[in-house]
Amino acid sequence: MRLDVLSIFPEYLSPLQLSLIGRAQEKGLLDLGVHDLRDWTHDRHRTVDDTPYGGGAGMVMKPEPWGEALDHVLGAGAEAPVASHARPPAAPVLIVPSPAGEVFTQATARELAAREHLVFACGRYEGIDHRVIDWAAERAEVRMVSIGDYVLNGGEVAVMVMVEAIARLLPGVIGNPESLDEESHEDGLLEYPVYTKPAEWRGHEVPPVLLSGDHGKVARWRRDERLRRTARVRPDLLAALPAGVLDAHDRRVLAALTEEREETAPG
Ligand code: ADE
Repeated sequence: MRLDVLSIFPEYLSPLQLSLIGRAQEKGLLDLGVHDLRDWTHDRHRTVDDTPYGGGAGMVMKPEPWGEALDHVLGAGAEAPVASHARPPAAPVLIVPSPAGEVFTQATARELAAREHLVFACGRYEGIDHRVIDWAAERAEVRMVSIGDYVLNGGEVAVMVMVEAIARLLPGVIGNPESLDEESHEDGLLEYPVYTKPAEWRGHEVPPVLLSGDHGKVARWRRDERLRRTARVRPDLLAALPAGVLDAHDRRVLAALTEEREETAPG
């Protein structure tokens, strides 16, 4: 997969050289280019922003440097408008991090992990002149994406979040891909709690079932823990599960939890 990141703070992205993502680049699974947007300015001050039309506080990122930068990273595909149905499967996706975008989820990460070329455009200040987005949408798939309902100073941290979530799904990046299966947000349930040695630590014991060697019982306990945790912390996820995901045993576990809560509820 090819990734290009455009930013006025390219050094902000240096953590992407570390850990699993850094190793994925060394292994040739990921080809990452981080570019300084100011390389596409032509004035002495390398200006990337200007005052907003219509007035108001803050500055807006000028379209010209973005246009030239995108011509460079989108390549030949950016030369002329192409209808969305006529774009080749390898066509790039332009991702614009923004608190005004669609919310990034594990499903978004999976969708984007299946693409060949992702371009991330990190805005700063009040955002990028919207004509850049409109122009790019005629040439590439453009997605404005938010990593959550809060406001960051710019898109760089959001890009690090997205790149980490996407890259770990690429074949070969994670040593044991089975470890992805029961993770939170993969199948609608949160993950179960995990333990390692010693069996007793500061008066706290590992749940005995995990020491039993009975694989069936361990699997059942883990699923029950996932159900209980999801019901407690993220009831919205449980309510959104497609029909048929929960079997009769699952339903009994959840019903017992509701009864327990009713018994311990004050009043
Ligand atoms: N830029 C500023 N806030 C953001 C957010 N929540 N998600 C993505 N990009 C952002």
